[in-house]
This record gives sequence, C-alpha cells and structure tokens, in this order.
Amino acid sequence: MRIEKVNSEQQMGEVAAELFKSQLSAKPGSVLGLATGTTPISLYDALAGMCAKNEIDFSAANTVNLDEYCGLAPSHPQSYRYFMDKYLFDRINIKKENTHLLNGLAEDAAAECARYDALIGSLGEVDLQLLGIGPNGHIGFNEPASTFSRATQKVALTQSTIDANSRLFSEGESVPGYALTMGIKTIMLAAKIVLVAGRDKEDIVNTAINGDIDPMIPASVLQLHRDVTIVMCV
Ligand code: F6R
Repeated sequence: MRIEKVNSEQQMGEVAAELFKSQLSAKPGSVLGLATGTTPISLYDALAGMCAKNEIDFSAANTVNLDEYCGLAPSHPQSYRYFMDKYLFDRINIKKENTHLLNGLAEDAAAECARYDALIGSLGEVDLQLLGIGPNGHIGFNEPASTFSRATQKVALTQSTIDANSRLFSEGESVPGYALTMGIKTIMLAAKIVLVAGRDKEDIVNTAINGDIDPMIPASVLQLHRDVTIVMCV
C-alpha cells in the first residue's frame, strides 16, 4: 500500500489525476471505477483540466460507478448520475454510452444488481477503482457489518451515512434510506485502487490501514489488496 500525503485538496486532485493519466496512457480502453461525494471533486476538476489541454484521452474508456441512491431519477440533482455528468462526464471526451451507473429506479433491485455485476464482468473487470471513505469506514455504500459484503446489492444506509450526506440535500428534503452499491468483492477484483481522503478522514483512514481487518471498518479490507494508493490530505 502506498500513502501519498498532500497538503491541499487541489494537490490531492492533481496527484490522483496523474494516476488516471498513466492508466489511460498505458491502456486507453481501461475500465475506470468511479466514486461520487465531495472528496473526488478536485480530482474531477484536474481531469477536466487535463482533457481541455489534450493531455488525457477518455474516448476509448468505460466507467462504472460505485453506487446510486434508490428512488432518485437520473435528473434528480442529488442522484449520482446527475453528479457524474456535472462534475466529470460533461467536461471530458468520454462517450456517454460508455458511462455506467446502477439504476436507482429499478423496480427489481436484485435483478439490477445482477445486471451490473454481469456488465462489469463483460467489460473485463475494473482496471483502476477510485474510492472515497465514509466517516464510519464505508467504501461504496458497503456499511459496517458482521461480514464483508460480496456482490453488488441493495443496502440500508446507516444513520451516520444519512447524516453525513444530508449536507448535500436541500432543507426539508430527506436523504434516501437505501442505495445500490458495488460489493466489496467487485471492488477487491479491481487491478488497482486509488482512495482519496480529505483531512476530516485522517483518523478513519489510519484505523482502516493500521488496525485489524474487520468488516465493522469496511475499508480495512484494502489491507488485503495488492495495489492500493491512498492520496490523503494532512
Ligand atoms: C460515493 C461513495 C462513498 C463516498 C464516501 C465519502 O460514491 O461511494 O463511499 O466516497 O461517503 O464521501 P465524501 O467524499 O463526500 O466525504
């Protein structure tokens, strides 16, 4: 595991963007696993800047996002599809049809999760997976549990996650209680993982990488992965 310590969010974005640039130079048709949340925004800004200068090329890439809220349409400003279009896809030269997210409106969640796992398998698994980390150590929306979750699934969000994410919703609007998330098994199958973490996540990152491997701290499973880079603001 490599830890890159940086001292600003902008630098965090730039360092992580270089890893994406190297990935796409080495393999233009890479499958990139992406995350939402506030932490990756500086990375997405850096990637958009590189793309504007023709320093990176997404034209052959595919993307798969980690998660999506249940019950939010893609046009809902808090849906993760809306977020990804706004912060990344509309600013880079990716083909929209190559950008994949779980459908939070699917009536049959189990069938939607199976479709997504099959899709990722058909793309040949993820080459570079971006992760953020929740205050409780969640990755994707894999919340603390008695065992590490496996396949893509529908999950109930914990109160801590609902509270943490409520800052992004307008007053009076409630955070969905459920989400669909890529499972830990799929995340761990990615060839490379990059986790970005702001200053507010220093303690939970330290617990996850130095403490026991424990499903109550889902990110601790990353200790078992062979190629993880953590870019963290200190
Ligand atoms: C989002 C995701 C979540 C976030 C985590 C941190 O797609 O998978 O695990 O990465 O909740 O969110 P921020 O960056 O907003 O602190």
